[in-house]
Amino acid sequence: MKSRASMDFRFNRNGKFRILAIGDSHDKFTYNEKTEDMLNLLNKSAEMLKPDIAIFMGDIVSDWIREENRPATEDELFHEIDRICEPFYSRNIPIGITFGNHDGERTDSKRYLFSLFSRIPGFINTDTSGVTGVGNCYVPIYDKKNENMLFNLWLIDSGSSAQDGSGGYAWVDNDQIDWYENTCDELTASNGGKVVPSIVFQHIPVCEEYLLLKETTFLNPYRVRGNGKYSKNFYTKGIDCHGYLGEGPCVPARNNGQFRSWKSKGDVVAAVFGHDHLNAFQGEVEGILLCQTKCSGFHMYGDGLHQGVRLIELDETRPADLTTKMYYYRDFFGTKCNSIKGYDLLTDRWHTNFKITLAVLGTATALTAAGITAEKLYSHIKKSKLLKK
Ligand SMILES: [Fe+2]
Ligand SMILES: [Fe+2]
Repeated sequence: MKSRASMDFRFNRNGKFRILAIGDSHDKFTYNEKTEDMLNLLNKSAEMLKPDIAIFMGDIVSDWIREENRPATEDELFHEIDRICEPFYSRNIPIGITFGNHDGERTDSKRYLFSLFSRIPGFINTDTSGVTGVGNCYVPIYDKKNENMLFNLWLIDSGSSAQDGSGGYAWVDNDQIDWYENTCDELTASNGGKVVPSIVFQHIPVCEEYLLLKETTFLNPYRVRGNGKYSKNFYTKGIDCHGYLGEGPCVPARNNGQFRSWKSKGDVVAAVFGHDHLNAFQGEVEGILLCQTKCSGFHMYGDGLHQGVRLIELDETRPADLTTKMYYYRDFFGTKCNSIKGYDLLTDRWHTNFKITLAVLGTATALTAAGITAEKLYSHIKKSKLLKK
């Protein structure tokens, strides 16, 4: 049941530990073609940020059938996985994964992917047998003398579609929560009764992210529409929410109490998510820092040149007090990019709102040119309603 990563870690000589979270690296059209732009982003991140571990946050592949309507061969798929991992293993940086909803699109596809990742040098996930999901495990980090476990990372498979078939996204299952709680108790016991501070990494964010937002109106230019059960309302960042909100967080269809479980155990100081390609905000809810990581791939819906990675840095002297920052493609390469051209080099937020404004102005201009004033339009609508009655 208890599943420890295949490698232990320790704080480096400077008393630091750096984790690189890599958001969705899948490709909307042909999963087996990772763009050079994304590979450049990963290479530069590995070179400049020098992480001690890199974690792929899920949705590593999607659209399991290629354009020519045949599944990729094992060699083709492995080749693409190898390409995104090479920037790290070639620098002796170990690699972890948390599976996303698209990784599990086909029966047993996550097990298949896990077996391919197992061929990658420095791959650290083990698999907690008997527990829902693939690759659930924990990753101990020891002090630089390698004597005491100072920190822990949870790598969780957050599932695909809602378990009850109601639509929307999955929630972390009860047996996974039980596994987390039991393992946390064991780690606490072996640490002299003191909880080991930890970060959860998983693809789908928890519903409590909406506590970082506040409701707003359509007229607010910084609005986003909520997602799933929150889709009736518009939201903007609340006072404790920092960074970039580009879309309504795509949280599970049901709140299964995962966040409350973290609170009850007291070890989780932060949780890092992928899944939302446009979101890169962070903020504390009840003392737990919730962090979104934008997508790293360029061929799915994205955000201009703001595809990026999230760096988290721990300090041995105060490991629970972490720092984190997003690094964007634009930070490394400016506007040199093959995948995105012209208009789309702007940020997604800006050009989405710009498109809406253009559409409204265009419609108003066309109606005016046709001699249809707002007053006439209103009376026409009113009349047609009366006629219907
Ligand atoms: Fe995705
Ligand atoms: Fe996803």
